[in-house]
Amino acid sequence: TDAKIPIIPGTYKNISELAQDCHHCHRCTLGDSRTHAVVGRGHLQAPIMVIGEAPGQSEDETGLPFVGRSGQLLEKILASVNLSTERDVYIANINKCRPPQNRVPTPDEIAACKPYLLEQIRLVDPKIILLTGATAVKGITGDKQAMTKIRGQWMEWEGRLCMPIFHPSYLLRNPSKEVGKPKWLMWQDMQAVRAKLD
Ligand code: URA
Repeated sequence: TDAKIPIIPGTYKNISELAQDCHHCHRCTLGDSRTHAVVGRGHLQAPIMVIGEAPGQSEDETGLPFVGRSGQLLEKILASVNLSTERDVYIANINKCRPPQNRVPTPDEIAACKPYLLEQIRLVDPKIILLTGATAVKGITGDKQAMTKIRGQWMEWEGRLCMPIFHPSYLLRNPSKEVGKPKWLMWQDMQAVRAKLD
């Protein structure tokens, strides 16, 4: 897909049309090194959309988001408040293609991919968007504050409810479940999400 041709909001009738374009996309150079473009998985009309950063190795290999170590933890976190990708959640990323060595996507790469994400949000039409980690927050709202400061706080973006939450990879590096630690805070945040849905 040619970077010079803009993606006009409303272009896609459904996620599979959007995915077709992603699989052929060369709007940024990540398209040259990917194995698979990773579009999304989960319920296509989910009330909750989880947005991560970009595919890692497992995701690039399988073409599915959050299927590696972070993804397994994310599934456990969702299940802990009785949420599932079959019924309640659609998962996507800021960038559809894996950055080399899993580096953080550049502002240009994020900008090139953003029209796809905006179309995904429009099509899934979630009530709640969960932004996992600083890249997702920056990519959607532009907010650059520290995750430790903004996690768990509801914010509004384009008329939708959003909540920044820790990225599962951060929780893998901080495994303590003690009161006040990241994993405990995540549990508080997910209970607030669950309550908002009920
Ligand atoms: N981390 C992410 O942010 N997204 C994935 O899809 C996998 C790991």
